[in-house]
Amino acid sequence: MKLWAGRFSKETDERVNSFNTSLPFDRRMYAQDIAGSVAHAKMLAATGIIDAGDAEKIILGLESILSDIESGLLVPDNDAEDIHMFIEAELTARVGDAGKRLHTARSRNDQVALDTRLYLRGETDNLISLLKKLCVALIKKADEYKDAIMPGYTHLQRAQPVTFGHHLMAYVSMFLRDIERLVGCRRRINVMPLGSCALAGTTYPVDRQMTRELLCFDSVCANSLDGVSDRDFCIELASCISIAMMHLSRFSEEIILWCSWEFKFIELDDAFSTGSSIMPQKKNADVAELIRGKTGRVYGDLITLLTMMKGLPLAYNKDMQEDKEAVFDAVDTICECINTFIPMLGTMTVLRGNMKNAAARGFINATDLADYLTKKGVPFRDAYKISGSLVAWCIENDTVLENVPLEKLREYSEMFDGDVYDAISLETCVNMRSSEGGPSPSSVVRQIQLAKTALEEIR
Ligand code: ARG
Repeated sequence: MKLWAGRFSKETDERVNSFNTSLPFDRRMYAQDIAGSVAHAKMLAATGIIDAGDAEKIILGLESILSDIESGLLVPDNDAEDIHMFIEAELTARVGDAGKRLHTARSRNDQVALDTRLYLRGETDNLISLLKKLCVALIKKADEYKDAIMPGYTHLQRAQPVTFGHHLMAYVSMFLRDIERLVGCRRRINVMPLGSCALAGTTYPVDRQMTRELLCFDSVCANSLDGVSDRDFCIELASCISIAMMHLSRFSEEIILWCSWEFKFIELDDAFSTGSSIMPQKKNADVAELIRGKTGRVYGDLITLLTMMKGLPLAYNKDMQEDKEAVFDAVDTICECINTFIPMLGTMTVLRGNMKNAAARGFINATDLADYLTKKGVPFRDAYKISGSLVAWCIENDTVLENVPLEKLREYSEMFDGDVYDAISLETCVNMRSSEGGPSPSSVVRQIQLAKTALEEIR
C-alpha cells in the first residue's frame, strides 16, 4: 500500500511501479536520508511541532534502521517508490504512530534535494582528496625527473627542449584548478533546502537555521521554489568533473603515445597493462585508453543534466529524478579513473635515455642557435633566418646543429665562435630556460614549492 494511496481508487499498474521507482539508484543515499530525518525530527521537537517522546522514538527507530541497513539485515527492496518512502515506511513499521509524524512540515521534494546535497557534499570532499593525492604523486615524480630532458612539442612536432618534471607539473597546474573549482562548487552544494517543503514553505513554526546547523550546512536556500527545483549543484559538479576528466584524458593520450615504440618514453608496469588475444608481442595501455573513453561518458552525464533541466517549469517535476543516475555516474567514473591512474603513474618506468635521444634529434635547439646570434647583436629576424638555413643544411647533410663544424657555421655568420657548441647543447638549452614557470630544473623546483603551498592552503 502506497503512503499516498488515500486519494486513489486503484492499485498502481505494475509497469508504472517499475518505471517510476528510483530505489535502485537512490538507495545509496540511505545514510543521508536518515541523517536528514534525524535532524528534522530534532527540530520538530525543539519547536514543539511534535512532542519530545515521539522525536525520541523516531530517532531511535531511524538509528536502528541505519545499523540494520549497514549490517545487511535490512535491504531496501524494489517495491518502494524510493529510498525516502522505504525508510519512512520501515520507521512506521518499527515505531508505530510516532513514525507517521516525521513527515510533518516536510515534503519529498525538499527531502530529496537535501539528501542529494548531503550525498554530493561527501562525494565532492572525497574527489577533492583524490585529486590532491594525484597532485602529490605527480609532484613526487616531477621532482625525481626535474632534470630529465625531453622534447617539448607543438603540433606534435618536436619544438623546444623541456624536462619531464616540467611536463608533469603542467598537469599539476590543471588538477589544482580542478580542485579550486570543486571547492567553489562545494560551497554552492552546501546550502540547506529543508523547510522549502513541497514548494511553498510551511505554516508550521519551523526553525530552518537549527536544521542547517545540525547538518553542517553553510546557509539555507533563500527561496522555497528555488530550494526544491534547483539542480545547478548537480550540473556544476558534473561540469567540474567533465573538465577534470578532460585533463585526465589528455594525460592518458600522452601516456598512450609515450608507450608506443615510436616514442618509448615510458614503460607501464605489467600490472597496469594488458595483452592481446592474438598478437603475442602486444602490451597495451588499456587503463589510459579507458580513461580517455570514459571522458565521453562523463560529458554525456553533463549533457543529460543540462537537457533534463532546460525546459522545466518551477518547481519540482518528476523529470528531476533523472538527475541522480547522471551525476552519480560522473562521480563514480572519475573516482574510479583517478584511483587507477595514481598507481599506474606510480609504477611506470621513465626511460630518460629515450627522451634525451628524441630531444637530440628534431633540431629543438634551433631557437637557441638564433638566440646565440641575437645575444651577439644580430637582429632576431636575421638570426632566425640563419638558423633556419643551417637546419636545412643539416637535413641535407644528415647531421645535427651541434655537429656542424665552426668553419661551416661561419659561412652563414661571422658572429659564430667556439662557444656556440656549449650554447646549443641540450643541457644549456634546458638549464638556461629558467624563467618563472619554465622547464629548467631550478624553475621546476620553484613550481613544486608553489604547488605544495597551494595544496596546503586548500581548506
Ligand atoms: N524519487 C523522487 C526523486 O528522486 C523523490 C521526489 C518525489 N517527489 C514527488 N513529488 N514525486 O526525485
